[in-house]
Amino acid sequence: MDRVQAQSRIELLSKQLNEHNYRYYVLDNPAISDYEFDQLLKELESLEKQFPDLASEDSPTRRVGGQITKKFNTVRHKYPMLSLGNTYSKEELQDFDSRIRKSINQDFDYVCELKFDGIAIGLTYRNGRLVQAVTRGDGVQGDEVTGNAKTIRSIPLRIYADDLPEEFEIRAEIIMPHKSFIRLNEEKQENNEPLFANPRNAASGSLKLQDSSLVAKRNLDCYVYGIMGDNLPFQSHFENLEKAKSWGFKVADLTRKCSDIDDVMKFIEKVEKQRSSLPYDIDGIVVKVNEYRQQEQLGFTSKFPRWAISYKYKAEQGVTRLLDVAYQVGRTGAVTPVAILEPVLVAGTTVKRASLYNADKMDELDLHFNDTVHVEKGGEIIPKIVEVNTGLRQRDSKKITFATHCPECNTLLVRNEGEAIQYCPNSESCPPQIQGKIEHFISRRAMNIEGLGEGRIEVLIQNDLIKNMADLYDLKYDQLLGLEKVITDEITGKQKKISFREKTVNNILNAINSSRNVPFERVLYALGIRYLGETGAKKLARHFGSIDKISNSTFEELMAVPEIGERIAGSIMDYFKDEQNNKIVNRLIETGLIFKTETVSTEEPGNQPLEGKSFVVSGVFDGYSRNQIKELIEQKGGKNISSLSSKTDFLLAGDKMGPEKKKKAEELNIPIITEEDFNKMIE
Ligand code: IVH
Repeated sequence: MDRVQAQSRIELLSKQLNEHNYRYYVLDNPAISDYEFDQLLKELESLEKQFPDLASEDSPTRRVGGQITKKFNTVRHKYPMLSLGNTYSKEELQDFDSRIRKSINQDFDYVCELKFDGIAIGLTYRNGRLVQAVTRGDGVQGDEVTGNAKTIRSIPLRIYADDLPEEFEIRAEIIMPHKSFIRLNEEKQENNEPLFANPRNAASGSLKLQDSSLVAKRNLDCYVYGIMGDNLPFQSHFENLEKAKSWGFKVADLTRKCSDIDDVMKFIEKVEKQRSSLPYDIDGIVVKVNEYRQQEQLGFTSKFPRWAISYKYKAEQGVTRLLDVAYQVGRTGAVTPVAILEPVLVAGTTVKRASLYNADKMDELDLHFNDTVHVEKGGEIIPKIVEVNTGLRQRDSKKITFATHCPECNTLLVRNEGEAIQYCPNSESCPPQIQGKIEHFISRRAMNIEGLGEGRIEVLIQNDLIKNMADLYDLKYDQLLGLEKVITDEITGKQKKISFREKTVNNILNAINSSRNVPFERVLYALGIRYLGETGAKKLARHFGSIDKISNSTFEELMAVPEIGERIAGSIMDYFKDEQNNKIVNRLIETGLIFKTETVSTEEPGNQPLEGKSFVVSGVFDGYSRNQIKELIEQKGGKNISSLSSKTDFLLAGDKMGPEKKKKAEELNIPIITEEDFNKMIE
């Protein structure tokens, strides 16, 4: 095939593939089989390989990604990306309607849309081609994530319509459908990686991945709720949305033009009934005035448009009985209480357990056996108890107090001053701690020892072959060959047989051997020192250069490392005070793991969102336990400080924060931020 023929074939294939892609991902109505689609794609790929200069930026082959972005460019929005005022009350919605009626004093329509729970994006199209995708950021400027956005199949890369404005911007929400979210978390669980708390976090985390080929695998979706530009086809929102739909964008079928507020209320109620069966999360309905002229007339308050509001649904609740409280022991020995409930249907799934976070939270709820409790499924995976109906409490029912001893090894639990978490101090022989530590040690981001999934470690522990991470390096072929066990998956209830056959054993031993090349910063992270995340380990490794220097450092020396706060520094000191830990580290050194780094530097690349920022965390939060939020701060490069000083950058305030803290922050002029502000900072 010559160049000219190739060019026209490439154009035809691109057009066909775009059309089939649209039918599959937007209309959910494919016309050809996956196999036929792949054949066309392969043909296009091979032609583009032969004639690389004919491969365009918006070719359907770009959907699989491949581009790596180390740091996303910051881009200023042409039109600021605003947020919406919101309400949970129908009365306030009526007030919103009265205000508008009074203000525009003529007939008008509303448009009701789903309020998608994902991450906002602005997509710029020029001459029918997607040229830029930018996240909301702070509303004025955001991150340019074009390469990643191109992998999202429901975002058109090229539009062939002849009534397109030369340039326009699509406003949309990137979401992760429930199905993809569950699959992703299952995969993460298998790899011993931390799970995403909800689809919103998963969508946001995925869109910011550096490797676009990984984004392509996350099955993100994109729903359009706005269009901006100078030469739009219509002077009203609904009609432009319909136009966008005809150009190939995905606009939710549940979008309605309503002639009055009663119509709006009906739509809100209708969608509320359907909400739990939608394939993705929504948290309410957005109500907008349809005509742009009337929108302009209404204008904006200091923060929000006056022509739109979001009506939020209350989190879905169920009422049931509290049967008992169970305690889970994590790899660091942290003991988490979990409520065992009489099964109840909430938002389409049966809830049997609810998170109780910690002893303080449990005390706050003042739980008694057989209490009638309200459970709520917010956006999180695990439901929580939000209310106890004390009026229905039986007179003789006993108060539930936090366990005094470890449920796994019966050791007396301890609680550090100022912390809400109880720990089992028996880190050497408490089985879930041994298992958890080893699982962390072998995980992908630590030593990356493949082939030793959760089930296999359990078998090795039960057969007394390993008691700690150093024992892994003494394992022998003959000890492993032939081991087997049938285990039941806690989540799915499925049974699977774990067996150590010849090939598996060889793979495991090879993977263990290869881990001797893992760089120091990851080995340090793999040790599982409490609170020391990947970023902290990296900073320490680069700052000190060797395990000897770290273990011999003083608290002050550790604190001097950027991003290392009191909690991490204290925890490192504790770790190296423990003889057993030192023994394990020495054995790991002897077996040949890397405990030194070549490049020692105090300079750090500043690519973490909370880099260099210190936080005092106070109060209770909706989406996180206190510990989770602290961990997140450190993961994102920030530092936790226990008390406010003039050097503190932010006071992160949850509900029920003490008035003293607030007063002090105000005196010291320290910005007080909410959980929502924080989420935006780390987005
Ligand atoms: S309109 C000026 N419509 O909610 C109006 N936003 O609180 C700007 N969102 O950042 C937004 N669904 O990420 C609008 N149907 C919808 C929406 C929606 C979800 C998100 C969006 C925005 C935030 C505003």
